[in-house]
Amino acid sequence: MPSLIVSSPAAILARLPPDLQTNLARAVAVGAQQGARMWLVGGVVRDLMLGLPISRDVDLAVEGDPMALAPALADALGGRIQATHAAFGTATIAIPGYTFDLARTRIERYPQPAVLPEVEPAPISADLIRRDFSINAVALELRADGLRLHVGALLDPFDGRIDLAAGRLRLLHAVSLRDDPTRILRGLRLAARLNLTPDAAARAQIAAALEQRYLALLSSERVLSELCLTLEEPQPAATLQLSDAWGVTEQLLPGLAWTPALAARFERSAAQPELHELLPSDTGPWLCAGLLLFDQPDPLAPLAHYGLPTPLSRLLHEIPSLRTASPVLAAPLSGGALDALLQPFSPLGLIVLHYAEPSTANAIGQYLYVLRPQRPPLNGRDLQRLGIAAGPQIGQLLAELRKVYLDGAVTSREEAEAWVQAARGRRQDAE
Ligand code: CTP
Repeated sequence: MPSLIVSSPAAILARLPPDLQTNLARAVAVGAQQGARMWLVGGVVRDLMLGLPISRDVDLAVEGDPMALAPALADALGGRIQATHAAFGTATIAIPGYTFDLARTRIERYPQPAVLPEVEPAPISADLIRRDFSINAVALELRADGLRLHVGALLDPFDGRIDLAAGRLRLLHAVSLRDDPTRILRGLRLAARLNLTPDAAARAQIAAALEQRYLALLSSERVLSELCLTLEEPQPAATLQLSDAWGVTEQLLPGLAWTPALAARFERSAAQPELHELLPSDTGPWLCAGLLLFDQPDPLAPLAHYGLPTPLSRLLHEIPSLRTASPVLAAPLSGGALDALLQPFSPLGLIVLHYAEPSTANAIGQYLYVLRPQRPPLNGRDLQRLGIAAGPQIGQLLAELRKVYLDGAVTSREEAEAWVQAARGRRQDAE
């Protein structure tokens, strides 16, 4: 943990990477044209004060309309609008190197525990009050002079910088965890990452929220996505140990015990993220859940009380067969045999197995990158043209052809046609 906490606006500005300063200056200028004001807000300001590297996701609070600003900003910054949510007044803009998350400054009302809030535009001062922890209720006003970024005041109404210096995690509201129980997990991550200790009030509120079982009221998507953020922390083991100590693990995933083997698995996934790119971007939480539950006798059991989205329940159903396939993959197999063995599994399942059991990594890498994308020289229509009647035999022949092709016994279209004729002859002889 760096010891040099700064809180003067100029010192914070000096810690912003130059390319980000230029992009922010442009954004502020575009905002000014529409009468909008902007602040860097939340975690990015906290991390700058601490002297930590900042994330590529930059949160900007906007007194103005992010939805109206988004097209002009994307244009001026050479980026693209990634998402907008009219109900929350938010817009996400991807620009080279960064993602700007713009949110209209607002107040929130939680009609019931653990549901998404109703929001209403409000000034920055009110927006900071609605937030989770004192160290996150901080904002730095941005100004611009051409391409030069300037900063105004640091807003820190709850003395977040003092809590940062004292290593203290402090909630802002008595019902904060009832309104939004994900903050229990957010607090866990921050405490483990920044070595913070909850103050007495936060400890009492966490205990009460667990006692009331507010976490169980969250949708499974929200729990899993928070859980994954937790597991993707730089030191997941520290976070999960703390989660055990706070009594969170047993509520979220009953029956699960945190082990060094699990920690190693998550470290592998974080250290080799290339495979994640083979999956749709919204699959991250399912991958984490798969890693977490891979060793469970019934991987569905710890999540049984959440309504599971189909891709997740499909993955968890797949895990027992993946475990059975695992020892076979440690031995050398021909390309065709490997492909035939792994084809029934989803790429997500295989990637989980790859991280869960390192002995399978080479075989799975070879399948996903080399074998799976290959197409044999003939397809079903070609087989019909060669006189094979439509029906199950087409599928069987295609599977056999794929195997011999991947084994290198058939390499061209001509050879494939000859192989099909020979295979047909063999079949006719057998009948
Ligand atoms: N926030 C909040 N309550 C939540 C989620 C977010 O008050 N349930 C506020 C906090 O001020 C937080 C900011 O929104 O700092 C941005 O949220 P997010 O980007 O999720 O978190 P960061 O603080 O940037 O944390 P991290 O470093 O873990 O990304």
